[in-house]
Amino acid sequence: MSSCFTISLSLLFFFINFAATEAVPTFLRHYCPNATLFTPNSTYQSNLNALLSSLSSAAADSADGFANAIVGQNPPDQVYGLFLCRGDIDITTCSNCVATGKQDILQRCPNRQVSVIWYDECMLRYSDVFISSVMEQVPSFTMHHTGNITDPTRFMQVLEETMDDITARASVRKSGKKVAIAEANFTSLKKLHTLAQCTPDLTVSQCNTCLRAAILGLPRGKKGGRMFTPSCSMRFELYPFYNASAIAALVPPPSYLPSPPALVTRRNGTYLFLLFVFR
Ligand SMILES: *[C@@H]1O[C@H](CO)[C@@H](O)[C@H](O)[C@H]1NC(C)=O
Ligand SMILES: *[C@@H]1O[C@H](CO)[C@@H](O)[C@H](O)[C@H]1NC(C)=O
Ligand SMILES: *[C@@H]1O[C@H](CO)[C@@H](O)[C@H](O)[C@H]1NC(C)=O
Ligand SMILES: *[C@@H]1O[C@H](CO)[C@@H](O)[C@H](O)[C@H]1NC(C)=O
Ligand SMILES: *[C@@H]1O[C@H](CO)[C@@H](O)[C@H](O)[C@H]1NC(C)=O
Ligand SMILES: *[C@@H]1O[C@H](CO)[C@@H](O)[C@H](O)[C@H]1NC(C)=O
Repeated sequence: MSSCFTISLSLLFFFINFAATEAVPTFLRHYCPNATLFTPNSTYQSNLNALLSSLSSAAADSADGFANAIVGQNPPDQVYGLFLCRGDIDITTCSNCVATGKQDILQRCPNRQVSVIWYDECMLRYSDVFISSVMEQVPSFTMHHTGNITDPTRFMQVLEETMDDITARASVRKSGKKVAIAEANFTSLKKLHTLAQCTPDLTVSQCNTCLRAAILGLPRGKKGGRMFTPSCSMRFELYPFYNASAIAALVPPPSYLPSPPALVTRRNGTYLFLLFVFR
């Protein structure tokens, strides 16, 4: 009986480990209007294939979990693309996600001139217009935990304060990953976990604007929620859903003080102190 239990437990751990190493990205949503289609076997299509391959290779050694690319000489055939991985995932998971996205986006969005696909782990998009360093708030979508909050008034207060905090902290990062996490005490037993992220090609103010709008789009009165746009995303849950030590390892925890003016000290290529205020 007990050895049987041990065996099934070991098997369970085996499968958990297996699942962790061979992780298939969790598909969330895709968006690709069928209003603009490209001609099969056109230059646009071959440029798109080259673009997706280039992004997929870039993901294999992108420390920032982000890259953009352009393929093609002349505007009608030029394709622009980028990917962004969630700030706490490692390069292998990021690279797997983009590689899956590369195949998936062509299947889900056949002959589409403009597409975006989201997974839990990454986002991949391409377009026939310039998208690098451009803040894009549409299309957007939200997801929510089905459970309701028992004290929504206090919950929303804690949530908004925490989201303001991570919006400011994610925005000020001027290089590398534009991501921030925070935990807050909702009740003595329940902790709120939050994450905000922008594509790192955005300016401080673009990222701030994108995340502020995302806060307004978050579901109200729910135990968890997410908001996604092509340029930024936010999530909150009453359980830890990210790898906090991976985020902590990015840069030393920013000294985030509520009063002094913007001051960023750069030393040896690493931002050591990030102090910023938006109020
Ligand atoms: C585009 O999508 C709409 C709605 O999904 C569908 O009704 C329409 O037939 C599609 N058009 C083409 C050209 O596929
Ligand atoms: C596109 O090219 C492939 C292989 O080169 C061919 O099989 C297919 O029929 C072509 N499609 C069109 C619409 O020309
Ligand atoms: C949450 O509240 C909504 C509306 O107030 C209700 O329709 C829904 O059934 C509730 N969900 C749960 C899990 O209690
Ligand atoms: C949350 O509560 C714990 C103990 O109840 C405390 O140690 C911790 O500092 C609190 N965290 C925040 C962010 O207030
Ligand atoms: C979390 O991140 C740390 C630092 O990058 C890494 O060593 C650890 O394996 C990660 N944990 C999980 C469960 O992925
Ligand atoms: C920064 O660079 C200097 C000289 O280039 C070196 O002595 C110092 O150890 C470096 N500091 C860190 C934190 O890497």
